[in-house]
Amino acid sequence: MYDFDKEINRLNTHSYKWDLLGEEYLPLWVADSDFEVPPAVTERLKKRIEHGIFGYLLTGNEIYDVLRKWFREEYNAVIPDKSWMKLVPGIVPALAVASNIGGGKSITNIPNYCNLLEAPGSAGNEMIKVPLRNVEEYYSIDFDALEAAVTEDTKVFYLCNPHNPVGRVYTLEELRQVSAFAKKHHLLVVSDEAHCEIVYEGKHIPFFTVDDYAREHSITLYSNGKMCNVPDVILAFAVIPNKELMQTFERLGYAFGEEHVLNVEAGIATYGESGEWKAELLAYLKANRDYLEQELRTRFPKAKFVHLESTFLAWVDFRGYGEQVDAKYFRKNAKVFLTDGKDFGKEGYVRINFATRRAILTEALNKMEKAIKG
Ligand SMILES: Cc1ncc(COP(=O)(O)O)c(C=O)c1O
Repeated sequence: MYDFDKEINRLNTHSYKWDLLGEEYLPLWVADSDFEVPPAVTERLKKRIEHGIFGYLLTGNEIYDVLRKWFREEYNAVIPDKSWMKLVPGIVPALAVASNIGGGKSITNIPNYCNLLEAPGSAGNEMIKVPLRNVEEYYSIDFDALEAAVTEDTKVFYLCNPHNPVGRVYTLEELRQVSAFAKKHHLLVVSDEAHCEIVYEGKHIPFFTVDDYAREHSITLYSNGKMCNVPDVILAFAVIPNKELMQTFERLGYAFGEEHVLNVEAGIATYGESGEWKAELLAYLKANRDYLEQELRTRFPKAKFVHLESTFLAWVDFRGYGEQVDAKYFRKNAKVFLTDGKDFGKEGYVRINFATRRAILTEALNKMEKAIKG
């Protein structure tokens, strides 16, 4: 029903992804996609804009009801009422504010989403970074390493689930282990679930549903940015079941300010009216993932890559073709703009955003192959 191969020129649209380096480059870096948003989003925004008046918003209950229904239907997760939810301006500012709770160090795994790694530092708090276990490009949480690294003054554990950039959808058993680790060390768990709608294999489990400790000691963060390609009219929110914790988060996040009408309208349209669109998007992205993996195997047999359970962000190591073959190399020699693994705490790897038309992906692979093989 929806055409994800439709050609849309994003150059000169104030697009961070496309306009930063300009038309000479194919941009497969920052995590927004090149697809038109669901029609329900455009319709709702148009209707609201045509009204022509943008006074202070009375948020109302509709957005909360839509979100609660979504969680019940998608994740079998009950959010009893809106007191568990706080709308925020984005996941990243919420990550930073959360690091102030408890007043100590934070701990997480690497590689990890760059802004998650930097969030505590931006709020003046130290982040302890512990490598994930990597066995033949299958990543998992190394609890022995976490035990060795955690300190008495560590207060927050940052989880990224599904994990950007290694594409893992953590299992219930793994999440229970996270909860047990947090309980043992009296940690708050901040779970960044930005990619939870883009899952190909496994089932996403919201952290706050894992067990009693997880429910009472967590801040779980969501947005519709990845799901419906609306990061610039985002609807982001925190789920915080514990009342006292919610009060602390709201107090520390006072500067977040109020929510905005276009974001709320887009939120209602994405979570309330775009389920079919999302199913088709997932099918398109999954086919792109399979295509990319196949092409990597045949064109670049010396490349190592992760089989993604989630996300539209492939994590690839091309150094089998020479130590210098990294993001910078492809930018210079192929004019393909990829994300540098260094930003995620791991040198050498590149991250390839395949949420684009198949034709663009193919063109990028052609250029990358030519750059390596001449
Ligand atoms: C793990 C993760 N968290 C958060 C974000 C961004 O947050 P938001 O959706 O609020 O823009 C991203 C964007 O790439 C991400 O990958």
